[in-house]
Amino acid sequence: SEDEVVNITYVLRDGTERKIRGKVGDNVMFLAHRYDIEMEGACEASLACSTCHVYVDPAFKDKLPEPLEEEDDMLDMAPALKDNSRLGCQIVLTKELDGITVTLPTMTRNFYVDGHVPKPH
Ligand code: FES
Repeated sequence: SEDEVVNITYVLRDGTERKIRGKVGDNVMFLAHRYDIEMEGACEASLACSTCHVYVDPAFKDKLPEPLEEEDDMLDMAPALKDNSRLGCQIVLTKELDGITVTLPTMTRNFYVDGHVPKPH
């Protein structure tokens, strides 16, 4: 029903915005995959990678539960960490998050290692 709808905007690596109608209970990473949004998720949400790294709209940052220690540990390994960094696979949509924007970083650990993005010299 409409009550369940949670609107989310993904800002892709090239800056394009994708507006998606998610719903309460959707996982931000799996939702992205369902819409062919290029968010990685190398470990399938088992908190063993940092490839699902996103920047959360600062206005919504405090509406998310605090990260688990495991999430913090993984984030520490993500390139280009910021104050509003979270792991996409640990964000579950709630009504409070309606209108949230998450931005994909231009680089993730896998991109880096696989050489999809040229390594800086
Ligand atoms: Fe690996 Fe999110 S997919 S931590």
